[in-house]
Amino acid sequence: MSVLFLASLALALAAGPALASGQETYARHCAVCHHGQRWGLTGPPLLPEYFGPKKEAEIAGIIAEGIPATNMPTFRGTLSPGEIQEVAVFIRTRAAMPVWTAFEMLSTRKMAERAATAREPSCDLEDLFMVVEGGTGKVHFMDGGSFTVLDSVKAGAIHGGPKFDRKLENAYMLSRDGWVVKYDLRGMREAGRMRAAVSGRNIAISADSRHIAVASLLPEALVIIDSGLKPVRSLPLGAISSVYSLRGASRFIAAFKDRPELVLVGQDGFETEPIAIDQPLTDFFIEPGERYLVGTSREGESISIVDLKEGTLVKSIESKVKMPHLASAAIWASNGAVYAAFPHIGEAAVSVLELYTWEMKKTVRTKGAGFFARAHEYAPHIWVDTGTDTVQLIDKKTLEVAGELTPEPGKKAMHVEFTKEGSFALVSVNDKDGAVVVYDARSLKEIKRLPFNKPVGKYNASNKKY
Ligand code: HEC
Repeated sequence: MSVLFLASLALALAAGPALASGQETYARHCAVCHHGQRWGLTGPPLLPEYFGPKKEAEIAGIIAEGIPATNMPTFRGTLSPGEIQEVAVFIRTRAAMPVWTAFEMLSTRKMAERAATAREPSCDLEDLFMVVEGGTGKVHFMDGGSFTVLDSVKAGAIHGGPKFDRKLENAYMLSRDGWVVKYDLRGMREAGRMRAAVSGRNIAISADSRHIAVASLLPEALVIIDSGLKPVRSLPLGAISSVYSLRGASRFIAAFKDRPELVLVGQDGFETEPIAIDQPLTDFFIEPGERYLVGTSREGESISIVDLKEGTLVKSIESKVKMPHLASAAIWASNGAVYAAFPHIGEAAVSVLELYTWEMKKTVRTKGAGFFARAHEYAPHIWVDTGTDTVQLIDKKTLEVAGELTPEPGKKAMHVEFTKEGSFALVSVNDKDGAVVVYDARSLKEIKRLPFNKPVGKYNASNKKY
């Protein structure tokens, strides 16, 4: 027996009772969301591979405090500090990895028996919304003209936002446990589903609508499937934080949780091209011209501007207010300049960055730390949620808070989305007895209120494709 083996055996024996009790705590309190084998269900996988440089203390902090604006609850009070410590140690131990190849994927594939007969669309498809209802795992298709729900599909715990394809023929959604659901927008019904991953992050649709890229956490890969939900390719690129489709360049772009690199993937031949950057990017947006990517790491201490055409880092901006939430940035043009506004996770502020000059213009103090900012070309305000029951409106011209709305006192207001023309703004009341509240974006009058059970997100076909 090797010395190494004996040493690790001794370690395991010494750690034994604590580990066993950590495992027990896990089974009792965590497995329901994170899976018995820690492969992830409605919550992400909990494996050492995903924590990167995170230390036990930091993980214990997450378990104690929970994660705001998500379903990760706080365990302070439920578990003792000792139990939290033990479960934090347990989830950093190695676990068996699932095997998930084209064979397993195909064994889950279920398509509608016959093709739906295409009907004349009963609404303007360009103004169709998908409303993700967290409380029921359903996605509702809502007409953005009359604000009525036309159909619903059960999709599980959706992650990363559902997507419309470019031709508005189909919509796709990914559940956290890796199911891709395809919805036929012309026949208005589910076209089929397949489990492309054991645990998934998000999806992107190719510019020609023929392929869907699935950022798979388990196994670690970029999985390419076709629009008939058949596996095409699995690229073992690593732990992807998210994938996005560049329609101009017909390429997918993947960012990674733990390495300072971006990878471009061709949408026809799936050839890959890496771009070295200064830090791993877990949160980013791509400006409308699709030349520059603006991203930050999990720690959120600086903002990296990457030129995707040249494959170079243009600038690194120190973020005076930490943890900018860039993926939710609101972008608008005004007086010949283009701006992005984004909230900061954990601090009551929204920052405004001028694009292309890459100058930070302003930090606006808000009522509370929010998660989403939205703007529309034709709407006068940037709408931001504040982690409270109130959304605040920032005037595009003065960059000052110019008003606020409280859809339902005492219930959290979050996530704003505009209709196609920007005439109406839809706000979620994120509660079991919640609602989507429609406001006139100019008069700020309430137009309609539709009841939903935790309507976490709303996606408009003209504002959110690919
Ligand atoms: C009700 C469902 C639920 C339960 C129960 C739950 N979690 Fe979570 N957990 C989540 C979700 C959802 C997330 C991801 C939140 C996000 O979107 O960032 C998460 C995230 C985490 C993270 C952060 C992962 C990372 O990579 O940063 C850790 C650590 C974690 N959970 C540990 C635990 C532990 C340990 C338990 C049991 C004591 C537990 N969770 C119980 C839903 C749950």
